[in-house]
Amino acid sequence: MFNNLPQLPQSLKEILFVDEHEPQIWQMTSAERATLFFLLSQINPQCSIEIGSAKGGSLAVLSQFSQIVYSLDINPACKTRLGPRFSNVEFIAGDSRATLVPLLHRLQPENSTLEFVLIDGNHTAEGIKRDIENVLQFKPSQPVYILMHDSFNPEVRAGIQSANWQGCPYVHWVELDLVPGILLDRMPFRRQMWGGFAFALLRPVVRQGELRLGANQALLQQAAMKQSAHNPTILSRIKNSWTWPLTALARALRHRGTR
Ligand SMILES: C[S@@+](CC[C@H](N)C(=O)[O-])C[C@H]1O[C@@H](n2cnc3c(N)ncnc32)[C@H](O)[C@@H]1O
Repeated sequence: MFNNLPQLPQSLKEILFVDEHEPQIWQMTSAERATLFFLLSQINPQCSIEIGSAKGGSLAVLSQFSQIVYSLDINPACKTRLGPRFSNVEFIAGDSRATLVPLLHRLQPENSTLEFVLIDGNHTAEGIKRDIENVLQFKPSQPVYILMHDSFNPEVRAGIQSANWQGCPYVHWVELDLVPGILLDRMPFRRQMWGGFAFALLRPVVRQGELRLGANQALLQQAAMKQSAHNPTILSRIKNSWTWPLTALARALRHRGTR
């Protein structure tokens, strides 16, 4: 199917036929891809940062619409693998805990052309909180759009919620469910909640008044939670099923990729 539609632009194929686009380059749903594509096509950032290069799925769109992209990944193989594909991307290898702050210090004096940040690296609550708070040290000279992937996942969501948004006077808007996520149905991630985009906007003026953390799909997130493997009752049922030992390797690999 996918290969029989050569007349369609590649970007459209990647949004419309997610399951047919093999090997799996992206780790995002159709709704997330479409949102990323649309936002970047409207913003046309002078400078973007991505935390989590992986196989270059989201990076291809960032590279298409940004003048320059800094793509950070703990895995040094990303640079070797993806470098030749993207002439406007500077790859920075290492833990974002160590690489993000020096990069932001480097960009700050350049009258901060930074306009877009995609956070999709470390998926622990502590890791995403740290990435967010590091970005919030940056003083914007123009609007900075921040997307945080996997805001539907309870641990990632907790990390986003616990970040010190109030402490940054340039934050004007935070929404946890710009795009809601999904409850996966495939092993080895059966009944796990992933995906979703949280969104924040920084502006170069000091915020007046209270900042509210919006969660326009909180009910959906809570309903999914009850049916998910994040619910201890359901998790013990999954762990007692015959398929659980068969998927140990896939779980271990996923865990390694989201350190
Ligand atoms: C979910 S993938 C990113 C997917 C990519 N944004 C896309 O949609 O095509 C997460 C990536 O973050 C990287 N990562 C995990 N922990 C990290 C950390 N502490 N610092 C930098 N990168 C990290 C992993 O190596 C992995 O490549």
